[in-house]
Amino acid sequence: MDTPGAPRFTPESIRARKGRLPIPALTAYDHPTARLLDEAGVPMILVGDSLGMVVLGYPDTTQVTLDEMRHHLRAVARAGTRALVGCDLPFRTYDTPEQAVANARLLVADGAGFVKAEGGLEILPQIRAILDAGIPFCGHLGMLPQHVLEEGGKYRIKGRDDAGRQRLLADARALEEAGVFACVLELVTSPVAQEITRACSRMVTIGIGSGPDCDGQILVTPDLIGGFPWFTPRFVTPRLRTGADLRDTVAQWAAEVERGGVASSQFPVAGGTSSTSPN
Ligand code: KIV
Repeated sequence: MDTPGAPRFTPESIRARKGRLPIPALTAYDHPTARLLDEAGVPMILVGDSLGMVVLGYPDTTQVTLDEMRHHLRAVARAGTRALVGCDLPFRTYDTPEQAVANARLLVADGAGFVKAEGGLEILPQIRAILDAGIPFCGHLGMLPQHVLEEGGKYRIKGRDDAGRQRLLADARALEEAGVFACVLELVTSPVAQEITRACSRMVTIGIGSGPDCDGQILVTPDLIGGFPWFTPRFVTPRLRTGADLRDTVAQWAAEVERGGVASSQFPVAGGTSSTSPN
């Protein structure tokens, strides 16, 4: 998929794929994963605040801090990807336009090519302020994980009734009008996601659990590769079993060590490299 020397992806080149070429997007929280996704040709990488659950062991995204996001964003940015890298503004870091801009600037300084925050009309002043500061913005509508506790801890599908559908359409139109280049649609019914995608000609929609008719699809990478085997969303079928394979491989190796038959792969080959000399 990747072409050596090809230009880096930008918000403009991502937006230009609308109606032409669907956009695959994935999350990354560390340097090697970012490099591998980039080598696979993924054009858009998100340092999502799903970090909280799949890396940091929190029950949801509400406890993730800006410092934690920045730490992982810097690791991803050091991969120097051709992919456009974006980063979530975590919960309570964009309550006012001033706070939103100050924190978005920190993420840009750490290497983000865009920032993302959850919500529609209710955060429009913050979105406008971020865009006015020259920072590309990706919206997030539908199920808003940062508000899961207000929803009784349930990740509910959105757009099921006409009032919900109208709200989502109004939010999406407002974001597009403000100049937002992309918008994640999470757990939106498939017909409503399709309607938003068609209604917005200047903003790409990136679906997650929202059916096939969005401009792109995003997944939390550990969900795709079976990297967090204790929980998989209903709409994802893992393509690998990295978590289970890791557990099996480690158990096998540990048993070999305990039997006293230490595997030769444990000893460095003369002239070989180790993970302390990676390149
Ligand atoms: O935090 C995240 O990983 C996200 C994706 C699910 C879009 O927001």
